[in-house]
Amino acid sequence: ARNCILSTLFHEPSTRTRLSFETAMLRLGGHVISSDNPGMTSAAKGETIADSVRVIENYADIIVIRHPSEGAARVAADYSEIPVINGGDGGHEHPTQTLCDLYTLKKEKKDLKGLHVVLVGDLKHGRTIHSLVYALARFGAYISTQAAKGLELPDHAKRRLREEFSAVPTKLNSADVVYIADSQGESSQNQINEMRGWDVNFSKEFKQKLNMNIDILYMTRLQKERLSVNADTKEYTTVVNQAFLKPDKYKNTTVLHPLPRNEELGYDMDNDPRGAYFRQAAYGVAVRMALITFLLELKAPHQTQQMAPNNSYRDYISPIGGIRCTNTRCITEERSEQRYLRPEFYYLDYHTISDTLRCIYCEHEVAPACYGYISNKKFFQNMSSFKQLTDNIIFFDSTESALKAGYTKSTSKNIKTKSF
Ligand code: NCD
Repeated sequence: ARNCILSTLFHEPSTRTRLSFETAMLRLGGHVISSDNPGMTSAAKGETIADSVRVIENYADIIVIRHPSEGAARVAADYSEIPVINGGDGGHEHPTQTLCDLYTLKKEKKDLKGLHVVLVGDLKHGRTIHSLVYALARFGAYISTQAAKGLELPDHAKRRLREEFSAVPTKLNSADVVYIADSQGESSQNQINEMRGWDVNFSKEFKQKLNMNIDILYMTRLQKERLSVNADTKEYTTVVNQAFLKPDKYKNTTVLHPLPRNEELGYDMDNDPRGAYFRQAAYGVAVRMALITFLLELKAPHQTQQMAPNNSYRDYISPIGGIRCTNTRCITEERSEQRYLRPEFYYLDYHTISDTLRCIYCEHEVAPACYGYISNKKFFQNMSSFKQLTDNIIFFDSTESALKAGYTKSTSKNIKTKSF
């Protein structure tokens, strides 16, 4: 990458991600320009992400962005002419950490298929988890979730696991849920439909076997910076240390952690061969070298197998006055970005849930309360008569919002004919 420049644009603290990206670029013979203090950039003067990247693309060949708002990296990618890598966007995702995690799993355990990976801790706000779960499902691992109280996987992640990655949830014991993916998403639509029932009964023996066979414990810290001020954190998670790992079932367990650690991971694990988290951090350089190489097209990419998830959704851009994302951390709720960004959603019409909108930026889901027709500015008081999404449809979060947007109640009967 001798003549190439990587720009790191970090609006949140980082040690591993930024430094390993920069090391990766330097090891490839390239150069780095770095901005790790948003207070010292034009962001502090109200510059939008769209404007920042349209400037930086003239200075660099590739951008890594970390930002506190969920969906920020997607906005950057939408407006940039050069590749943009998501280095973590709020509590949403952290895809390059997942690449490091997958590489570590392969190095430590050879094959991802059939591995039993237990995810522990703050599964609600941990962005590394949100990227990792889909990858694990895609490669056919068994995923157990052992969330700290109140910090379970977000609903949209559970839904995506089930609907797009055919990962079926089942209870392991009273506290844990296991996701069992079918053979790498290859099943037919019929099979997927069958699997969409909530609790598929796997045999007791199978569950017992799974319970006794823990290949990976993936620890995460409590994401204090994303908790509401009055959140009760007393009951936070298991502490993994040598005493915890005494039982036989942990004999061959590899312990991973994206780091930084807090109390959840004991220092006595550092010299225990089962603790692989420093190796995991070290692999970050090689993995990110590979990613930069791939994105800068320095080498022809390997022939990759197409394993795209099942997610061909209709896009819905909410007109002014229409429904918005309700996640206060979403990039579409940032005042500066609202100057040019419209709330945009995937329209979900699943077997298990219908007429739901998933924000394309942060993935939080909202269910419209009612809808109207843009052409005649009439709205219907609820969704019961809703038939089909067309360009003429506007969704609202309440009848008050519809009235406020200048719509009047429709008196015509809209007979529902939609079938599932
Ligand atoms: C993680 C992050 O920033 O999300 N750290 C990392 O990039 N390795 C995990 C964390 O902060 O808990």
